[in-house]
Parts: sequence; C-alpha cells; structure tokens
Amino acid sequence: MANSSATARCGIVLHPAGHTRSPAMHRAAYAERGMNAQYEAFDVPPDMLGAAIAHARETGVRQLAVSIPHKQTVMEYLDEIDATALAIGAVNTVTLCDGRLVGANTDWIGAVRALERDSELAGRRAVVLGAGGTAHAVTFGLLKSGASVCVLNRTEAKAVALADDLGAQGAGALSTVAERESDVLVNTTSVGLQSDTSPIPASAHRRGCVVLDAVYDPEKTRLLRDAEAAGARTIGGKWMLVFQAAEQFKIWTNDDAPIEAMADAFDRAGR
Ligand code: ATR
Repeated sequence: MANSSATARCGIVLHPAGHTRSPAMHRAAYAERGMNAQYEAFDVPPDMLGAAIAHARETGVRQLAVSIPHKQTVMEYLDEIDATALAIGAVNTVTLCDGRLVGANTDWIGAVRALERDSELAGRRAVVLGAGGTAHAVTFGLLKSGASVCVLNRTEAKAVALADDLGAQGAGALSTVAERESDVLVNTTSVGLQSDTSPIPASAHRRGCVVLDAVYDPEKTRLLRDAEAAGARTIGGKWMLVFQAAEQFKIWTNDDAPIEAMADAFDRAGR
C-alpha cells in the first residue's frame, strides 16, 4: 500500500459505530507514515454483515478491522482464516490478498504487548476474569507467551469450557478470585464500563501483581484504582487497543506502526 498512488480504502465494521476510536488511530498512523489511505467506520447491523462483506470485496476495500458484534460471524464470509484466529474463534482483521479475503486476530497481541510494557510473561501465573470473546484472545496470548492461566467467570461452566478449549491450567468461579495466586490479572468482563464498579472486591488485590483492565472507558476504572491502592501495578485498556491496532497496521502495510501517534490519537478521540 505504501507505494500505491491510488487512495487505499480501509475501515472497520461494527455495530453500533459510535464508540470506536479505530479510525482515529489508523488515520493518525497513515498520516505519520505519509500514506494515502481512507479509513472509515461502517455501521453494519448483524443481518447486513454478509452484504457488507460482499460489497467490500466488490469495491476493493483492502483492509477491514472487525469489531463487536461481528468477530465470530464474519468468519463464514471469508476465504481463509489463519490458525491463530481459528484457535481463538474470532477474527478482528481482514485483508484483501490477490482477491481473497483473509482473516486474522490481533487482539491477543494487543493484550500481550500491553502487559509486556511492565514485564515478560513467561513463567508468570495469570488470572483472567471473564470467559467471552476477549477472554479467549487474552488467554491465548498469555499461554503463547509462556504464562500459566486460570480463567474465572461469573458463569463457571464457561470458564471451564474456555480453559479446556485453549489448554489453560485452571478455571473456576469469579467469586474464588481471592483464593488464587497470581502475578498477572486481566479483566475481560464488561464490569466497570462507564460505571464505577469492579468485577472483584478491593480486598482481592495483591501487592506486586500486574493488573490490566480491558475496559478503557473510564481510563482509570475502579478495578485499576483498587489495584493501585493495594500496591499492584496497573495498565489501562487503552494499550490493548493501541497495540492490537498497531499489529493490524503492520499486517496491512508491512511497516512498524507509529505507536505514540496512535496512542495520542486514541486519547484525543476520547475527549
Ligand atoms: P467480550 O466479547 O467483550 O468478551 P462477551 O463475550 O459478551 O464480551 O463476554 C462478557 C463477559 O463479561 C462474560 O465473561 C460475562 O460473564 P458471564 O459469562 O457470566 O455472562 C462477563 N460479565 C458481564 N457482566 C458481568 C457482571 N455483572 N459480573 C461479572 N461478570 C460479568
């Protein structure tokens, strides 16, 4: 794409479209690298996804990010899905290669890079809160990085199924969190999103633990404030989103992403 004089058409499909900061981050990256590309948010209701992907194919959209609620359902409309996205069970990145739509997943890399801002993950004991789509990507990334993982969820059976699926070392009910030893804790539940609530009690936090919250709005969630008060180190969900978008940029352009420009754009888009 960097060498093309034609304007590349790129974007994100999601529903509803109001909350996404993806266009701001990708436009900032293209501008920083002097690339000629458009990046739009396409608001696509679930029953329109097949038609939207067909339209994207026909009109030569080169790159598509995929967000909620389409990450699983988009898989049926693609020509190829890479092994990682298949293992996670979700696609967030689609690339048009020689007329074929290829699906990948960068959410797991977003979580790993965000955590690695603090320290390496190999040999660490991680607890993942939640058992939905984000938990699948985060658990995959932690295991691939050499951490051991215990998945805890309000609905325990979903935690057990996720752990079985991906080969995590443990699973249980969210209410058992205080009994679990951990060096790393990642919240993937939606608790705390635009509300001053936490999925776990403040007393469950431990000094020295690294805590990442996938919730990015507000920037300092109750979970992160409780963790800090207990002497844990914290990482905001912003970094998961910045690093997953940076990896998309790399897949799409073969160029390293301008992380700081994307992080600044993320902040500005939230004001
Ligand atoms: P995502 O794709 O973002 O991971 P999801 O698949 O809808 O979203 O998963 C949401 C997660 O948040 C689930 O683990 C859910 O727990 P359940 O499986 O028990 O539903 C969790 N969650 C949502 N609301 C919650 C709450 N009030 N307390 C605890 N967990 C909650």
